[in-house]
Amino acid sequence: MAKSFDVVIIGAGAAGMMCAAEAGRRGRSVLVLDHAKAPGEKIRISGGGRCNFTNLHTAPANFLSQNPHFAKSALARYTPRDFVALVERHGIGWHEKTLGQLFCDDTARDIVRMLMEEMKAAGVVLRLGTEIACVEASATGFRVGLAEETIDARALVIATGGKSIPKMGATGFAYRIAEQFGLALVETRPGLVPLTVADAAKESLGALAGLAVDVRAACGKTTFNEAMLFTHRGLSGPAILQISSYWREGEEIRVAFEPGTDLGALMKAARRTQGRQAVQTVLGEHLPKRLAQHLATEAGLLDRPLADLSDKAIDGLVALVSGWSLKPAGSEGYRTAEVTLGGVDTRHLDSRTMMAKAVPGLFFIGECVDVTGWLGGYNFQWAWASGFSCGQAV
Ligand code: FDA
Repeated sequence: MAKSFDVVIIGAGAAGMMCAAEAGRRGRSVLVLDHAKAPGEKIRISGGGRCNFTNLHTAPANFLSQNPHFAKSALARYTPRDFVALVERHGIGWHEKTLGQLFCDDTARDIVRMLMEEMKAAGVVLRLGTEIACVEASATGFRVGLAEETIDARALVIATGGKSIPKMGATGFAYRIAEQFGLALVETRPGLVPLTVADAAKESLGALAGLAVDVRAACGKTTFNEAMLFTHRGLSGPAILQISSYWREGEEIRVAFEPGTDLGALMKAARRTQGRQAVQTVLGEHLPKRLAQHLATEAGLLDRPLADLSDKAIDGLVALVSGWSLKPAGSEGYRTAEVTLGGVDTRHLDSRTMMAKAVPGLFFIGECVDVTGWLGGYNFQWAWASGFSCGQAV
């Protein structure tokens, strides 16, 4: 006889555990299955080990999806304040770092422990190290085939995340199940990922590797004001990770260095008082010196005394500094991407419950759905909100 549960959740990550705790609390018998040895591995390594578990400013506009309205319902049903209240009930210290981003004071493991405790209190059964052989519809719901047994479920929740960081056990499982049940997928691609440059650019930018600078990075009409980091392979840092989710192969990104500074006025004033100094020296008072040297070289003005420069030449230099453009060759891919863009097409899901409209009892939550947040705690908030909404419905 197959074992039977009201709800089987595949994936003991952020969304799966939140869903399990809520469904169990509502009296459902819940089994969570995961092929990993430990639950919530991405939570554990997130936010540099401190887990940026939510963002106080979470709004639908902070998410990418083919249907920007889809996330609204779940995000309204479970807010950052709800998660903060949960964290506080468990006595976990937290702080706001910047831009509404909340982190654990101590360690991300506290969040995993909290979710485990919530599941335990709700009577949830957790089975780790379990490979899923197959999933099929049955007369009473769904049948999940494991290596040596089958499990019956009235409701089946797919919470296996995206493809990012395969080394940590990420798989395309959710997408395969979606396709098996006739749900369309929005093309998946790596998001929140460092961008790489072609070999020639690698050589000229190599000298800048390790430099971090405040920028406004833009791709099309989307802009982010955050720090950018030059790497040996290209560009990284929060501004680039953010813009990477909007960037497509072949497109250009534009970077304004020190966007809050009126460099034109400063350079023209300096021409009167420091006219004998070289362009890169004066520029280096406002930008990292290596970057000033690089930009002066790109502008063809290296070693030129500032006094030699006409207004037009200074304006040209400022245009370069505030509109430096680059065509990335690619991205670092799923190996380092924090998230997977695209996924299960939201047109096929009920936005209040996350249930597949054409397959009653089958649910998709978390990162596998075509809802992807910005950097800064938004992706966990989506995992909590979609998991909670589903947990209330199963
Ligand atoms: P998640 O990936 O968490 O869980 C999926 C689970 O399914 C895993 O336990 C996996 O083992 C299991 N699974 C997969 N395939 C399976 C299969 N075939 N069979 C059985 N089980 C299977 N976000 C944020 O908001 N703040 C942050 O600080 C960070 N930091 C961060 C750092 C790094 C390095 C990464 C890679 C990502 C982040 N993120 C983040 C993103 C965040 O981790 C991510 O959006 C959520 O973990 C998604 O939650 P899910 O529950 O959907 O998937």
